[in-house]
Amino acid sequence: MKKKQRKEFSNKRDLISLEDRINKSNKIKELFFSLKEVWKAQNIMVYLSFKSEVRTREIILDLLMRKKKVIVPITDFKKTIIHLSELKDFNKELVSNKLGIFQPSKEFVRPFNKKDLDLIVVPGIAFDDKGNRLGFGKGFYDKFLKGVSKKVPVIALAFSDQISKKISSEKHDIPMQKIVTEKEVIECK
Ligand SMILES: Nc1ncnc2c1ncn2[C@@H]1O[C@H](COP(=O)(O)OP(=O)(O)OP(=O)(O)O)[C@@H](O)[C@H]1O
Ligand SMILES: [Mg+2]
Repeated sequence: MKKKQRKEFSNKRDLISLEDRINKSNKIKELFFSLKEVWKAQNIMVYLSFKSEVRTREIILDLLMRKKKVIVPITDFKKTIIHLSELKDFNKELVSNKLGIFQPSKEFVRPFNKKDLDLIVVPGIAFDDKGNRLGFGKGFYDKFLKGVSKKVPVIALAFSDQISKKISSEKHDIPMQKIVTEKEVIECK
């Protein structure tokens, strides 16, 4: 069930043109910065967008300008776990890994403890309004979020095309509190 939905929504997201992706990502950025969770947070984990995901470059540049701490994931595909690193300069510190995902180059890795995060921003393939999430399909974020306090808000960025009536979820899936699309902020219940 999950596999079929993942394929369907992944194809759908890939079909969004670059121009649309940029415009919609800008709108998402605006809505994102209207959230009180963002104003309140100091240490913010943000994914580094790749392929057709909602772009995060502009969000990250803005957060750094606002003197927030930006923490980015480093994915370990062998162990399917996420490590954290503080990013200080978007333009100087990133390199793309084998899969084309950006991550800090060795000399710029600044390990960060997940206990100190106060907001987490995640990508995904599809979501429903309950906050259920379909991701890459390796459980990266589920495993990561399992070890984070429930008090830390988890906010997803998605194009409105990625919102589905229902996403099949399993016990290990950790729901989002909010989903920001180019049209609205969905408060998940
Ligand atoms: N907390 C966990 N501990 C151990 N394994 C887990 C955990 N959460 C998920 N997994 C494993 O990861 C696999 C993929 O999970 P799932 O289908 O929910 O991925 P996803 O949430 O869509 O992807 P991702 O989080 O990588 O973006 C599961 O079948 C499960 O074996
Ligand atoms: Mg999951």
